[in-house]
Amino acid sequence: MRILVENRLAEGTTVHWHGIRLPISMDGVPGLTQAPIAPGETFTYEFTPPDAGTFWYHPHANTLQQLGRGLAGALIVEEPETPGIERDVAWVISDWRLTSEGQLVGGFGNAMEAAMSGRVGNTVTVNGALHTKERVQAGERLRLRLINAALARIMALRFEGHRPIIIAVDGQPCEPHEPENGRVLLGPAMRADVLLELNGEPGRAYEVIDDFYQGLSYAVAVLSYGDEYTPRKSPNALVPLPRNPLAEPDLGRAETHVLKLQGGMMGGGNMAGMGGMHGMSHGATWAINGTSMTGDGHEGMPPSLTLQRGQPYVLRLQNETAWWHPMHLHGHSFRILSRNGAAVPYRQWADTVLLEPRDTVDVAFVADNPGDWMFHCHVTDHQVAGMMTLLRVA
Ligand code: C2O
Ligand code: CU
Repeated sequence: MRILVENRLAEGTTVHWHGIRLPISMDGVPGLTQAPIAPGETFTYEFTPPDAGTFWYHPHANTLQQLGRGLAGALIVEEPETPGIERDVAWVISDWRLTSEGQLVGGFGNAMEAAMSGRVGNTVTVNGALHTKERVQAGERLRLRLINAALARIMALRFEGHRPIIIAVDGQPCEPHEPENGRVLLGPAMRADVLLELNGEPGRAYEVIDDFYQGLSYAVAVLSYGDEYTPRKSPNALVPLPRNPLAEPDLGRAETHVLKLQGGMMGGGNMAGMGGMHGMSHGATWAINGTSMTGDGHEGMPPSLTLQRGQPYVLRLQNETAWWHPMHLHGHSFRILSRNGAAVPYRQWADTVLLEPRDTVDVAFVADNPGDWMFHCHVTDHQVAGMMTLLRVA
């Protein structure tokens, strides 16, 4: 791929190609992997994506505002062929905080919000539009590529009248399986490729409902059936997607490192897990292993871990906070091994893993991509307020 980025903003920017295992110089972290692209200037990103799948891109400079005001898009790398799938659709799901006049509310980076769930909006769009009607045809098979591009909103999608089968997570094919309780759980930055057998009634509409937040369920979109029924031309058996060329971590040899997620508001309005407010830099609310790195990335960030190139590692992520965190590693995909000691079925590959309050999750990967890679929470308020660190692969 060669992408020419022209900055027509009044401030510096970069583009991060989220989930793509690319060379560090193309990773788009300002100060760290490149100088920010100044207003009026251009930058050419050039890399060969090693994996087919559903990825996305967004700025990594002033991310709260630039992503929060809509700079994001889907990046799809196609497989050579996908037998048995008649319809392939991507939904970039974003949320916005709008006034009753439909204007974006300012006040990004509110400290109170940053110490809690982050900036959750009040209006959700699919590919930038409200009340999306996805036209479908009975008898077909739909591959729906779901991308959560929101700053902070977590989504749990269920499909009225349909049984979703997850065939890929964060761009990496997995063992096809039904999600727990039939709901596809997506934290910010997470993706899922869902296969739907379109066996609804011709002429009917079926809601796709997000009911993650209790008492606040709403329809994200509807699947709207045409009047016809098209008998399937392709074979009925599901052909699994081809695996991407990921190195398998040898768990017998893997070194384990613990990363503790700390901070945030507790019940009584106290900050937790960092010895109170002592020793925290201004604007920091969150920390990893007692250290808060704030902002969007910058020059001279010290690594918290140095990993040997080509070696397998387990990262044990311990969420000591009362909040949810989708934790993202740049430049690599990892296998999700276990959650609170229990093996995770299918051990799917991912680049972002969602931790519930108090969760401990083990992930494993081969540190095969040299560079200084960000590891941060993708609730952008949490990232910029300290839940970020740097892993060096040398
Ligand atoms: Cu989409 Cu540093 O992340
Ligand atoms: Cu977080």
